[in-house]
Amino acid sequence: MTRRGLFITFEGSDGSGKSTQMKLLVERLKMLGLPVTENQEPGGTQIGRQIRRIMLDPAHEEMSPMTELLLMFASRAQAAAEIIVPALERGEIVVSDRFTDSTLAYQGEARGLGFETVLQAHRLALGSLLPDLTVCINIDVEAGLARAHERNSEDESEARLDRQRLDFHHRVSAGYRRIAQREPGRFRLVDGAGSREEVAERVWAEISPLLSERA
Ligand code: TMP
Repeated sequence: MTRRGLFITFEGSDGSGKSTQMKLLVERLKMLGLPVTENQEPGGTQIGRQIRRIMLDPAHEEMSPMTELLLMFASRAQAAAEIIVPALERGEIVVSDRFTDSTLAYQGEARGLGFETVLQAHRLALGSLLPDLTVCINIDVEAGLARAHERNSEDESEARLDRQRLDFHHRVSAGYRRIAQREPGRFRLVDGAGSREEVAERVWAEISPLLSERA
């Protein structure tokens, strides 16, 4: 595979504001006339959207951690084949709302499967496809959960994971901090406190050097 594009991912615990920040970045890149392709995990493709429904349905209380992991990689393998790899080959900037770091933090750390199991599944499903840069929006776990609960209180169809206990979400956050320690070059923790615009400027400070290098 010849990869000419740039692969950027957004991460963060539930309610961190990462999807809003991703939207702001995509708008900014498009304003600069850059070709951008978006993806969401789980859910960027038609198959992925069905997997998302299964994964987040509160009725599926019995779902095992390994089932969660395999569903996430099924969605991701499809997104890679259908969206991510073709766009990178066309030289575009691919921006994904979550990717394998989510599985490391949620299934690897919080569900206890371990990083190595997740990385094995990644190698099987995606080979060497990894982001060039990951922005992880870091906010207080309790504040994020309050936001996520508010968002899901009207539509309960995606509430399974934010109904987990508080210590689960603290473990997710610890998982992200562990990735940041392992890969400080690629994985950047960005302070999510303050206004959307303030956070967007912090995100831009991480992304723009990469664009200059590419130009
Ligand atoms: P969202 O809040 O970004 O829409 O993500 C949906 C939920 O799915 C969120 O609670 C995190 C969870 N998730 C995992 O547990 N593992 C994964 O690999 C991904 C991509 C998401």
